[in-house]
Amino acid sequence: MKVFVAGATGALGRQLVPMLIANGHDVVGMTRTEAKRDQLLGLGARPVVADALDADAVKRVVGEAEPDVIVHELTAIPPAIDMRHVDREFALTNRLRTEGTDNLLSAGQSVGVKRFVAQSHAALPYARIGGPVKREDAPLDEHPAAAMREGLAAIRHLEAAVVGVRGADAVVLRYGWFYGPGTSIAPDPPGSQVEVLPKRPFPIVGRGTGIWSFIHVADAAAATVAAVEGGPADIYNVVDDEPAPVSEFLPVLAAAVGAKPPRRVPRWVGTLAAGEWAVVAMTEIRGASNEKVKRELGWQLRYPSWRQGFAEGLA
Ligand SMILES: NC(=O)c1ccc[n+]([C@@H]2O[C@H](COP(=O)([O-])OP(=O)(O)OC[C@H]3O[C@@H](n4cnc5c(N)ncnc54)[C@H](OP(=O)(O)O)[C@@H]3O)[C@@H](O)[C@H]2O)c1
Repeated sequence: MKVFVAGATGALGRQLVPMLIANGHDVVGMTRTEAKRDQLLGLGARPVVADALDADAVKRVVGEAEPDVIVHELTAIPPAIDMRHVDREFALTNRLRTEGTDNLLSAGQSVGVKRFVAQSHAALPYARIGGPVKREDAPLDEHPAAAMREGLAAIRHLEAAVVGVRGADAVVLRYGWFYGPGTSIAPDPPGSQVEVLPKRPFPIVGRGTGIWSFIHVADAAAATVAAVEGGPADIYNVVDDEPAPVSEFLPVLAAAVGAKPPRRVPRWVGTLAAGEWAVVAMTEIRGASNEKVKRELGWQLRYPSWRQGFAEGLA
């Protein structure tokens, strides 16, 4: 198949493109950055340069590629996020999830694309009520932290637009928190937590009861390949087997990167230091179940637990 990957140079894209090529697909990779053409050629993709927010440019490159499948992996999250201003930090990402999604869908529809596969998030959409681990049909968060309102609205726009697309199959992948090469929890990029945590360790806020579902970026890419190649059009959580509270994973992450064990601080100190959203993430968010993606897409994890992934990948 011919697969058009928007976000082909990202942490996930760099894993995804070679996997698609190894499975015999013809890959066109989109970047907004002229200088990254060679990187895409090196991965085995045919590079195209376009800004996802420029509808005409997207229409042109998708029109020329005439893909069977479009994969949406766009994001523009800054390397270091000021947690007190997440709305500001996510402004461009929100536009990529709204306008960027609409541009890809519209360009794809005009050349008869058969399948769309789009990223979403496994932690942010779910209501912070009820049990600790959510399936895809769990209620969504109707009362997000103020700083996350626009971000959540953008994710909802993406999911609704993709699922509602006419004339093509649509798959939404709600990825867990990434770790591994090129992500913010990785040994390589400057500013990653491996570099930052030992100098400025995160404390555990409150009782650290927020549940996090992680996914190694290579496993996320493998699930994306499975979604490109088949399976029912649906929404899937793409997470590992071990959702875990902050109180459990943060000491393990700190040890893996050579930081001191995290201190504990009360909620009000967390709110003052890092804002409401950081406290919600540390104390209230829920994890996600991977039962459906394993059953329907036949996906298997190379890193079933973040324990193994942190130990092998971050040392
Ligand atoms: N990190 C997580 O924990 C997490 C969790 C859930 C979901 N996700 C989602 O998973 C997807 C993949 O994430 P990632 O970590 O691979 O992202 P990433 O490394 O930040 O890569 C982002 C990609 O988006 C492209 N891009 C950004 N702005 C663009 C624009 N205006 N026009 C065209 N391309 C643009 C970049 O291309 P160039 O820089 O080459 O131009 C790059 O290829 C994202 O959609 C992200 O939101 C991530």
